[in-house]
Amino acid sequence: MTQRTYAMLKPDVASLHRDAIVKMVTEGGFKIVAQKEYQFTLAAAQEFYAEHEGRPFFDDLTTWISSAPVYAMVLEKDNAIVDWRTFIGPTNSEKARAEAPDSIRAKYGKDGSHNAVHGSDSVESAKREILLVFPELA
Ligand code: CMP
Repeated sequence: MTQRTYAMLKPDVASLHRDAIVKMVTEGGFKIVAQKEYQFTLAAAQEFYAEHEGRPFFDDLTTWISSAPVYAMVLEKDNAIVDWRTFIGPTNSEKARAEAPDSIRAKYGKDGSHNAVHGSDSVESAKREILLVFPELA
């Protein structure tokens, strides 16, 4: 079933490695149906990552995500949500290098938090995240 997911290149790779990562995205069979550079406010980053509120990394994560523009994309493909998460690799970039060396996080991630890219984890998250960053698609 054709599905949409929300993907984003985090601030440290959004401009530096955008072209290379976008090439991987399209060659991986994902259709980019919307894309834009997007500057989170701190409040918007806190809302985006609300499920992680209270975790020890929450403040650093939301400060970092709102520190410079991200590159946001809506991707479409059969089974896009699970396939995109497989394509980007495990959350921790070191684990990605060990277990999924061809993944985006293995190639462009630094560590457990600075992991290059994001992918929605469920149908509900995808809807919520797309609406937050691309309200014009509603
Ligand atoms: P992301 O897929 O965007 O979703 C939540 C983010 O929180 C995750 O990628 C990482 O950037 C960050 N994160 C998750 N777990 C940890 C952790 N244990 N330590 C630091 N950052 C984390």
